Amino acid sequence: MSLTDEIKRRRTFAIISHPDAGKTTLTEKLLLFGGAIHVAGAVKSNKIKKTATSDWMEIEKQRGISVATSVMGFEYRDFKINILDTPGHQDFAEDTFRTLTAVDSVIIVIDSAKGVETQTRKLMQVCRMRKTPVMVFMNKMDREGKDPFDLMDEVEAELGIKVRPLSWPINMGQNFKGVYNIYKEDLNLYTPNKQTISETIEFKDLESKELEDYIGEKDAAKLREDLDLISGVYNPFSVEDYLKGDLAPVFFGSALNTFGVKELLDCFVEIAPSPRPVETLERKVDPLETAFTGFVFKIHANMDPNHRSCIAFVKVCSGKFERNVNYKHVRFNRLMKFAAPTAFMAQRKETVDEAYAGDIVGLPDNGNFKIGDSLSSGEDIHFKGLPSFSPEMFKYIENADPMKQKQLQKGIDQLMDEGVAQLFVNQFNGRKIIGTVGQLQFEVIQYRLLHEYNAQCRWEPIRLYKACWIESDNDTELENFKKRKYQYMAKDKEGRDVFLADSSYMLEMAQEDFKNIKFHFTSEF
Ligand code: G4P
Repeated sequence: MSLTDEIKRRRTFAIISHPDAGKTTLTEKLLLFGGAIHVAGAVKSNKIKKTATSDWMEIEKQRGISVATSVMGFEYRDFKINILDTPGHQDFAEDTFRTLTAVDSVIIVIDSAKGVETQTRKLMQVCRMRKTPVMVFMNKMDREGKDPFDLMDEVEAELGIKVRPLSWPINMGQNFKGVYNIYKEDLNLYTPNKQTISETIEFKDLESKELEDYIGEKDAAKLREDLDLISGVYNPFSVEDYLKGDLAPVFFGSALNTFGVKELLDCFVEIAPSPRPVETLERKVDPLETAFTGFVFKIHANMDPNHRSCIAFVKVCSGKFERNVNYKHVRFNRLMKFAAPTAFMAQRKETVDEAYAGDIVGLPDNGNFKIGDSLSSGEDIHFKGLPSFSPEMFKYIENADPMKQKQLQKGIDQLMDEGVAQLFVNQFNGRKIIGTVGQLQFEVIQYRLLHEYNAQCRWEPIRLYKACWIESDNDTELENFKKRKYQYMAKDKEGRDVFLADSSYMLEMAQEDFKNIKFHFTSEF
C-alpha cells in the first residue's frame, strides 16, 4: 500500500466522557467490532476503579497497567483505528488535555439520564479551542433518561456546538425498541445482548406499514413525527461542518448492550478525518509529506523505583517512522535512533518496524524527552499546540532535607518535564509554586521525589485562584503591569510571564485597570 493510502486509512481519536457515562464500555465494544477482543469484559483492567479514588498508589498501579491500553489500535473494514485512552480520574485531567492534542477527532459519550456533566464540559473546551471534529454517543438508552430533543438542546447550549441527530431512539428504558439510523436509512431493533451484534433492517420508506409491524402503532407514529421534526428543525447533515468542528452528529444507543454502536462506528470511519495537518512554529506540516515528523504528547513513568524508565508517546504527524533510523531530537539538535519502538494493537504492546502519520509510537526513554519535544527526519521544526492550562490548586514546594537540594531540584525538573504538574517561580521572592488540577498530584509528587530522587519536600499553603499567561501589544502597559503586580508575577518553566491572581475579584480588577493586556488561562493563545 502506498504511503498516502496508509495515512488516509488512519483514524486516530479519543473517547471522552464524564466518569461512569460508559467510555470504557464503549471502547470495549469498538474493540469487539474490530475483532481485537472476543469477549466483553476484557478492557476492565483499563479503568481506575471507583473504590480506589482516594488511594493514589493503587491508581498509579492501575495506570501502570493502562500503559498497554494507552493506545488501542485495531483494523475495521479497510481502516486502521487508533483509540487513545484518557484517564477517567479527574485529577489527571491535564493528561487528557494533552492526549487531545494528539487526536484527529473525538467521540463524546453522554449518559442520557444525566446529560452533559462537568468533566465533559471542560474537555469540550479543549476540543473547541482546537476545532477538533466531535461525534456524540448518547448512551444508556436501555434506561429511563431525558427526552432526546431536550438532550440535543442541552448539548448545544452546554457544549457550545451545533448538533445533528444521525440516529434516533424509538422509546427508551423498559420500552426501548431500537434506533432508526438516519444516516444509512435503516432500522435496528433492540435485543439486549452484551456479546453479539444485532441485525439491521434496511428501511428507507418510513411511511410503509411494515414499520407498525416492527415497533407497533404508537411508536411508529411517534418515530415518524420525531423524524419530521428533526428534518424541520435541523439542517441536513454536513460532513464539511463536522470536519470544521462546527457540527456534532449524534447517535443513540446502549454500549453495554452493544446496541447503536455499529451505526456510530460505521459512520465514524466514513466521515472522521484521517490525520490532519499540524501547525508548527515554522510552517504547517501535511501528514502526507514523505519526511517523518512527530511530537511527544505524553510521558508515562514506570513507578518501579528500580527501573526509572519512561515511555515517551510520540504522535507521528507526517510520513513514516522507522525502527533503527536516525531522527533529529530537535531540542537537543542531536540524532537519535530507536531500537525498540512500540506500537499498540488492541491490548498488546509490541515492537514495530514502522509507523505512519496518525499512529502513536512508544519510545523507551531515560529522561531525554519532555512533553512537546519534536522529532524529525532532519528539519528544525517545533510543534505548537501543547498548551499548559491554568492549574486549579497551588502550593509552595519547600525542601525538607537541606542535604538533598540538588536531588530535589533534579526531581522537580524531571517530573515537570513529564507533565505531572506545573512549576511557577515567583519573581518577587524566588519561591517555587507547584500547580495541579487535583490533590492527588501533590501526593504523587511527594512520593516520587522521595522514592525516585531520594529528596524530601514539604508543602506550604498559598491562596491562588488562577495562573494567567499575559500578553499585550502595548509594551509600556505590560511593563507597568509587571511593576505594579510584582508580588504576583511568576515565570513558568518555559520562562513565560505568568500573573498569579489570588481571587477572581483581583483578576477582574486587573482586567479593568489594564485594558490593553490580555489574560489567558492557557499558555498558548
Ligand atoms: P466510564 O469508563 O465512562 O467511567 O464508564 P463505564 O464504561 O465503566 O460504565 C459505567 C457504568 O455504566 C458501568 O456499570 C457500566 O456497566 C454501565 N453502563 C455502560 N453502558 C451502559 C448502558 O448502555 N446501559 C446501562 N444500563 N449501563 C451501562 P457499573 O455497575 O459501574 O460497573 P460494572 O460493574 O457493570 O462493571
